[in-house]
Amino acid sequence: ELGFKDTGAMWRSKYDMPADDFAKELDRLWDQVRPLYLSLHAYVRNKLREKYGDIVPANGPIPAHLLGNIWAQDWSNVSKIVAAGNSDRGYDLTQILKSKNVDALGMVRYGESFFTSLGFDPLPKTFWERSLFVRPRDRDVVCHASAWDIDTIDDLRIKMCIDTTEEDFTTIHHELGHNFYQRAYNKQPFLFRDSANDGFHEAIGDTIALSITPEYLVKLGFLPQAPDASKDIGLLLNKALEKIAFLPFGLMIDQWRWKVFSGEITPDKYNEAWWQLRLKYQGVAPPNGRSEKDFDPGAKYHVPANVPYARYFLADILQFQFHRSLAQAAGCPGTGSTPLHRCSIYQSKEAGKKLATMLEMGLNKPWQDALFAITGQRQMDATAIRDYFAPLQKWLDEQNKGKPIGW
Ligand code: ASP
Ligand code: SER
Ligand code: ZN
Repeated sequence: ELGFKDTGAMWRSKYDMPADDFAKELDRLWDQVRPLYLSLHAYVRNKLREKYGDIVPANGPIPAHLLGNIWAQDWSNVSKIVAAGNSDRGYDLTQILKSKNVDALGMVRYGESFFTSLGFDPLPKTFWERSLFVRPRDRDVVCHASAWDIDTIDDLRIKMCIDTTEEDFTTIHHELGHNFYQRAYNKQPFLFRDSANDGFHEAIGDTIALSITPEYLVKLGFLPQAPDASKDIGLLLNKALEKIAFLPFGLMIDQWRWKVFSGEITPDKYNEAWWQLRLKYQGVAPPNGRSEKDFDPGAKYHVPANVPYARYFLADILQFQFHRSLAQAAGCPGTGSTPLHRCSIYQSKEAGKKLATMLEMGLNKPWQDALFAITGQRQMDATAIRDYFAPLQKWLDEQNKGKPIGW
């Protein structure tokens, strides 16, 4: 009735370009980053093989249950297992947060103060009164984190069951990115009170979280001193296990749903097709035999909740583009002795101004204009993420020498 061929076509139509071009755009970006994913995959497979033996094939897919995350979408929980020699980053943020007795509210306060250090106003009093920060003891709630702007003006809230872990520390910055975006575009006409595209909404808090560098942790009093350059590979490997491992997962969810919506994947093939895409993009395999009696896609929140997912793939690319440009605005060279992963935009009013200008545009302009406002580029561009991880790519190539790549 709305004039779209199917729901997938409707989802793909929201990117200021023909829907088919958007699908091609995703393929193009994936082609740009795939070599780095393949290197990481091969390296991790080898390390897991050293630990677990033949259950991990030398040149086949990695059993998904060995990657430290129930969806195999973020591999940072296996960083200690796969870190070789000098590739441990040398600190454990979860342990630090726990030893400082940082509770749920404290975690959110750290997030807020990053944004205020950039020049944004503090969150309204109602945010603290009306949000849900801890898992209630008396009732079941949807704990999957989300951010809300109830009145589209300034009744901002998050709903999240916060634990004192590094992962949740990152996720809080992610959620607050939504809230600060929501308030920034609240002066737009009602219909434009949204992000430039949904990938932008998902990218803002993650961009900020890229500034949680060792140098920033020193400023918080969390580390006595920042590790020297000998820890760079460890820092980058840790980040890659989160951000590079996620890329093919971020892509395959909607590759599956688009085909379900169009009818190309029929109900009798839902689970089989799911694992085909898991294999194709991620190179992972199920831990045991699956059949159509199982419905594994249903275990991923966004599928039953009907939340589009390509946005998270876009955000994974965009946040590095944003970070590269904001770091520059903050006066961090991003090269030589201060590589991009050591740049934090904390306390930079210049970076904050640049970011705010883009956030305030909301949906009023095509996303290409919004991207231009921060980066001076009109195209999504995976060179930023490749640049960021360039030293790791070199290191992985050495580690993988003579070993099979791919599956
Ligand atoms: N709501 C977020 C995601 O779905 C963060 C999370 O809970 O992982 O975007
Ligand atoms: N928050 C999204 C998820 O949980 C993307 O990381 O999958
Ligand atoms: Zn989000």
